[in-house]
Amino acid sequence: MSPTARPKNDNFLRALLRQPVDYTPVWLMRQAGRYLPEYNETRRRAGSFLQLCKNPQMACEVTLQPLSRFELDAAILFSDILTVPDAMGLGLYFAEGEGPKFERPLREEWAIRDLTAPDPNVHLRYVMDAVAEIRRALHGSVPLIGFSGSPWTLACYMVEGGSGSPTDYRTVKTMLYDRPDLLHHILDVTTTAVIDYLNAQIASGAQAVMIFDSWGGVLSHAAYREFSLTYMQRIVAGLTRVADGERVPSIVFTKGGGQWIESIADIGCDAVGLDWTTDLGDARRRIGDRVALQGNFDPMGMFAAPEKVAAEACRVLDSYAADPAEARTAGGHVFNLGHGISQFTPPDTVKILVDTVHSHSRRASAQG
Ligand code: CP3
Repeated sequence: MSPTARPKNDNFLRALLRQPVDYTPVWLMRQAGRYLPEYNETRRRAGSFLQLCKNPQMACEVTLQPLSRFELDAAILFSDILTVPDAMGLGLYFAEGEGPKFERPLREEWAIRDLTAPDPNVHLRYVMDAVAEIRRALHGSVPLIGFSGSPWTLACYMVEGGSGSPTDYRTVKTMLYDRPDLLHHILDVTTTAVIDYLNAQIASGAQAVMIFDSWGGVLSHAAYREFSLTYMQRIVAGLTRVADGERVPSIVFTKGGGQWIESIADIGCDAVGLDWTTDLGDARRRIGDRVALQGNFDPMGMFAAPEKVAAEACRVLDSYAADPAEARTAGGHVFNLGHGISQFTPPDTVKILVDTVHSHSRRASAQG
């Protein structure tokens, strides 16, 4: 069935708000992407990944592609976290096979002092137009997720200049230890930019927002709180909470942040995203039912045989339950991968995963 012809399904929003659901909702990080041949086709037509992001009609088209194939419970805006530093003037480009890069990485003190937060409705107008277009095209079938990178993760790219070869974060960490004042300034301006950006997405139609702190896990225990968590707390406090009379839940995902989930749950977000290294049940015991949890199937598990993928999906679902008889219809769990889907994933395996999550959580609920 075409995604937009489906009846209204808000299980995703209800799960995030820990309200009763029909089954455990599922979506996948990077669900629109290179593992889908139709994505590669649209990207070819657009000319490049960035041109695809900057064309609202095409961004809308690729956002909907995975929903036509699979019974996913949410759509996520097709864009990238690096559009924000691009709008700050750093000059984003994608070198073929090398990932994102900036023409003007932030290194000099004068450039850092000159940094200002862009007006999202001007400099990121194409993102807002894409959000509005996608929201219209969805016809209320499933909720639309907006997103941003965390200030720390954006700063990693801005200072390092991209995701190039030295992946030890030497430049940005040298700044962290040597000139924390400069790094704090970058994080401060970026935090303002992210708040404005996410609120503009909400005003344009995003119904939930996710903060990707992809590189929070590379920080020391003390530095995580000072350079990442504090700024995410400011963002969550600055977000629009209600739009069109509906709560707009927020999800915070620190990759590699399993040891800090109690602190993450305390910043006021509605849900915490987990990678596959943390057990969902343990996480729940540690933070109680204060927030919902999202995750956490290992993306590399998608390369196993179909029956192994299905069994692993059931294991992940069962790991969330406090006891075997617990009804999945209580809400509080959004099934996802623990990180983005690999471009080499067979699309048929995605269908098995999504269908298994639905059937197993429905069955477990019926028994519970
Ligand atoms: O989830 C979705 O379907 C929405 C789209 C989305 C993309 N990037 C599309 C994309 C989202 C939510 C992101 C977030 C993003 N971008 C993150 C945070 C999540 C994470 O993975 O930790 C980060 C760190 C980035 C930066 C980025 N963008 C990198 C490192 C790369 C290259 C890596 C790669 O997979 O090649 C990108 C490019 C990118 N962003 C692609 C897509 C579909 C592939 C580009 C292509 O089509 O050539």
